[in-house]
Amino acid sequence: ASNLRCRQPARAAAIGMAAPPLREILVTPPEPLATSLRTTLCGQLRSTHAGSQVRLGGWVHRARNLGGLVFVDLRDRDGLVQVSFDPAHAPAEVVARAASLGSETVVLIEGEVVARPVEMRNADMATGEIEVRGRALEIVGPATPPAIPVARGKGENLAAEELRLRHRHLDLRRPELQKNIVLRHRLMQRTRRFLSEQGFLEIETPILTKPTPEGARDYLVPSRVHAGEFYALPQSPQLYKQLLMVAGFDRYFQIARCFRDEDLRADRQPEFTQIDIEASFVGQEDVMALAEKLIGALWSEAGYEIPATFPRMTYADAMERFGIDRPDLRFGLEIADASDAFRGLDFGITTRALDAGGRVRGIVVPGGAKLSRKQVDEIEGVARSAGAGGLVRVKRTGDTVEGSPAAKLLGVPGAAALGIRDGDFGLFAAGPDRITSPALDRVRQEVARVLELIPAGAQKFLWVTDFPMFEHDPESGALGAVHHPFTSPLPADIPLLASEPQRARARAYDVVLNGTELGGGSIRISDPETQSRIFGLLGIDHETARARFGFLLDGLRSGAPPHGGIALGFDRITMLLADAPSLRDVIAFPKTTAARALFEGAPAPVPPGDLQELHVKVVETGE
Ligand code: AMO
Repeated sequence: ASNLRCRQPARAAAIGMAAPPLREILVTPPEPLATSLRTTLCGQLRSTHAGSQVRLGGWVHRARNLGGLVFVDLRDRDGLVQVSFDPAHAPAEVVARAASLGSETVVLIEGEVVARPVEMRNADMATGEIEVRGRALEIVGPATPPAIPVARGKGENLAAEELRLRHRHLDLRRPELQKNIVLRHRLMQRTRRFLSEQGFLEIETPILTKPTPEGARDYLVPSRVHAGEFYALPQSPQLYKQLLMVAGFDRYFQIARCFRDEDLRADRQPEFTQIDIEASFVGQEDVMALAEKLIGALWSEAGYEIPATFPRMTYADAMERFGIDRPDLRFGLEIADASDAFRGLDFGITTRALDAGGRVRGIVVPGGAKLSRKQVDEIEGVARSAGAGGLVRVKRTGDTVEGSPAAKLLGVPGAAALGIRDGDFGLFAAGPDRITSPALDRVRQEVARVLELIPAGAQKFLWVTDFPMFEHDPESGALGAVHHPFTSPLPADIPLLASEPQRARARAYDVVLNGTELGGGSIRISDPETQSRIFGLLGIDHETARARFGFLLDGLRSGAPPHGGIALGFDRITMLLADAPSLRDVIAFPKTTAARALFEGAPAPVPPGDLQELHVKVVETGE
């Protein structure tokens, strides 16, 4: 209890807090955040504390002056408490000082916890059964009027995001963001605890490094001492974690900062955090089981119970049934092949697509006949913006089949063969799968949104496995790695590497939740010959492979255990568990979608002298 007393009598006297002498303050359990300046946090006070003398420090959330009686909502990271100042319990100058408080001023107050009369209790506030009757008040952090409001009334909108990012220190004071950042901390500690208990070692890897291919552009850092040479910031610690396995550490993890210069979206940041994991003497099943346990631990930290294991689907199946490799399974609307029903119909669009070797695929929306024309137009707009020429519409009401010209041709028997029953709506796209898959994926999502088919709170985890090893670059036609070049092929598909490499499947797996990719990993190539062969297929010649990945190849030649791993997107996980709309809401200092840090103003031009020292010249490209 000694730390509940004021340890700075001189300072306390100066702010008028020493007299009368404080009684022993009964805060239970002992408050670990008590300091020489405060006895407890604002949000912790309850009716059991009534009668206690407390000293609090915090921000003026709101202040109301009811003609001599002043109410201050005092806020710290723990919550809010109401403090009242009235002439019957505080010196007149204290009440006057309270009346002058502007919002977001930092104050120290001292007073007594008193129970509120029943009719004055505030059920919306955790501390709503009490208030603190203020006796002393010191302004320790004067504040200019805040550029954006921290306290908001019910239903009051947030300030524009750009403004909030510019004044991030104020925005971070919002209880919602405070909660998210606290959750992030807890998830991080739970990760460390869980993985340490499973025998994983936390090992840091360099930030100034060599490029690791993960499919994005690198952020480069010029070297001052080696003119014309650059470090790359890591897109992931992939190569290092593999070398740690070669070095015999057996189980590694890192809460790793990664940097990728790519087109940004709501679920991407140029600088983000992974829970990065690698283990030796493991197969795919081991890594997947470990990831399920870790995810279970993180979800339980946030108060959710989830299944111990997740269903699985192959990549081929996911693409066929959902048009995407990260399907959202919270609703049905599976894609089906409708080619047979359209074959032979005298309808140009579908006939041309089928003749060109494409297919007609689509979804049946049960009860979709109630969609308005405008809604269907909008859904079709989504399909078009995803690259489809349009959608074939088949609406069935009783014995009427209408919509696109093809609908009449299908008639009731054709519609029935497609599973379109009375009251349903069929939506179809014709063409090669590479066009229809992304379009139908978007159509599924849009229909689910419009018809509100997604049950609140549903969480559908899924493993997607057996990814292809390679994909063709649409422009150059060259093969690229779907996961990364260190992913091993399925043993059964190794013969395909010589004949049809594009058909070879990888020992790669992604974990997906509600259509968001939470993480991905693979079993690695641990044999240097296979690794060289894969580099060859990717068009990386021997010399380039040596120059870029020589240290990996040397490592693999020096006794490499079979190994594999996974990386989970930590920001994405936190965003989903915080139920936040954007990654920016779970990162203390995030970047905008234009990769700018508005708070500190990065990136920024540097003085010409600095550039010269770095041997860098800025060339205007006219872009
Ligand atoms: P991958 O590139 O799939 O795998 O990344 C793993 C996970 O990281 C998250 N993620 C991102 N989160 C926020 N912003 C981004 N820009 C971003 N990019 C990726 C995703 C993704 O699933 N080295 C491999 C892992 C391995 O093979 O072990 C890798 O980095 O949630």
